[in-house]
Amino acid sequence: MAKAGVTRTSLLALLLLFLLHFCVGSVTALRQKVGNQGQEASGGNDRYVVVFNTGTLHTDVHVFRFDENANLLKIDDKLEFFEQDSSFKSYAENPEGFANLVATLLKKAVSVVPTSLQPETPLILGAEDELLFLGEEMSEKILQVVHDLFKKSSLLYKPEWVTVLPAAKQGAYLWGTINYLLGNVGSDYSKTVAVLAQESASAQMTYALSAKAAANAPMFSKGEQYIAMHYLQETNYYLYSHGYFPYGVYALRAEVLKYTNDTYTYCVTNGYNGQFKYHGEAYNVISAPTGSNYEKCKANVIRALHLNATCRVKNCTFNGVWNGGGGAGVDKLYLARGFYDAGSDTNIAGKPSTELRLLDYQKAAKMVCEVKSFEEAHILLPVVDLVELPYSCLDFVFVYTMLVDGFGFDPKMMVTAVKEVEYAGSIMTVQWPLGAALELVSSNNTRKNDI
Ligand SMILES: *[C@@H]1O[C@H](CO)[C@@H](O)[C@H](O)[C@H]1NC(C)=O
Ligand SMILES: *[C@@H]1O[C@H](CO)[C@@H](O)[C@H](O)[C@H]1NC(C)=O
Ligand SMILES: *[C@@H]1O[C@H](CO)[C@@H](O)[C@H](O)[C@H]1NC(C)=O
Ligand SMILES: *[C@@H]1O[C@H](CO)[C@@H](O)[C@H](O)[C@H]1NC(C)=O
Repeated sequence: MAKAGVTRTSLLALLLLFLLHFCVGSVTALRQKVGNQGQEASGGNDRYVVVFNTGTLHTDVHVFRFDENANLLKIDDKLEFFEQDSSFKSYAENPEGFANLVATLLKKAVSVVPTSLQPETPLILGAEDELLFLGEEMSEKILQVVHDLFKKSSLLYKPEWVTVLPAAKQGAYLWGTINYLLGNVGSDYSKTVAVLAQESASAQMTYALSAKAAANAPMFSKGEQYIAMHYLQETNYYLYSHGYFPYGVYALRAEVLKYTNDTYTYCVTNGYNGQFKYHGEAYNVISAPTGSNYEKCKANVIRALHLNATCRVKNCTFNGVWNGGGGAGVDKLYLARGFYDAGSDTNIAGKPSTELRLLDYQKAAKMVCEVKSFEEAHILLPVVDLVELPYSCLDFVFVYTMLVDGFGFDPKMMVTAVKEVEYAGSIMTVQWPLGAALELVSSNNTRKNDI
């Protein structure tokens, strides 16, 4: 599912990269000729932020430009400067190789920032928490080479800006990105939208609460904070944000399949007999003689959600997680990343921003689970990667079951499946780095006189 979307995206990205290569090549050449004067002349109070995002699939660099009020400005007609290369995963045994990759991206990013602004331009890197699966020693080595590289950069480096990004924080930044692009930042919390995103290891739920609700939130132990204050432009938001493990696209497959290891499962395509591998564990996956079945697969998914887990406070969603108390900040729900891909693979989300009912996800799941053969599945879901195809029934059942049985949303609720948002006449893909950059320029802690 998401992987399929991701694969398609990466093909597209490759093509774009290929095309960009020529444009960037010539633009860079031009810039070298004229220096950076063009950009420098355009606004003395501009602020730039350079954000690296390294995840399971790629390493991206984003450069954003803001005015003095933290409004996003364009860079060469685009809302961001963007470049992409491979994930840290390909460098598990070769941190120096990863350093070289980051150095190449960094050089390109630096060339976009006017020389005089470089010393006050924050340089940050957030690694998806999947990095931790490489083991403590390896993940530390990977982060260390980045520290060493960033320290030498002409941009502004702070040790706390090179981190493994906790899922809840990533969710909060994505919330900032989406609400900013929708024009909600600056409005009351009740006008903002909730964001639920699915990554590979976790699903992340984020929404804004009233100051009163935040003040009355139950107390949790340290390291288990559900609410944090986020300052965006001129407004403080109290965000409930939680990373639901193990409910990312791949993690949840493992969670469901562990119960049927070596026995029949009703969650995969008829005739499938294979292995699912996740973080060093192998799960033997054998389809039931009658193939996939919506109801029977759903029962397995329900079990994996741990709906009965002990809830230490009132109002849990599933797996013993506090639901945040609800409220106006969750009246409108945006589904992103893996949840978007699930919609687009079956065409229920035909556009990069589509309104649909949660029931549409159920309809799609039933259709996918009823398929009787691999060939039929391929005809129904032509865009899904063949390696991922056998798991489609499971993936789709999970999306609907998590939303309705897990989070308790009304099946008739209208939601928006989002991949891109139009902003200032341009299209922007929704990802967490913009939200992170926005928070940095919204606080004044990166101004030269504060350092
Ligand atoms: C699945 O069963 C096989 C034995 O057939 C075992 O080797 C493997 O560790 C099991 N996988 C998990 C995740 O328990
Ligand atoms: C979960 O709760 C339901 C209803 O309260 C109960 O019937 C069921 O046995 C419980 N399941 C587990 C695994 O505890
Ligand atoms: C639980 O939900 C009720 C009703 O929505 C609400 O009044 C209460 O504050 C919530 N409590 C917690 C701890 O979320
Ligand atoms: C800016 O920084 C000063 C202290 O350096 C602080 O008192 C002030 O609240 C900050 N303003 C904002 C908007 O963060």
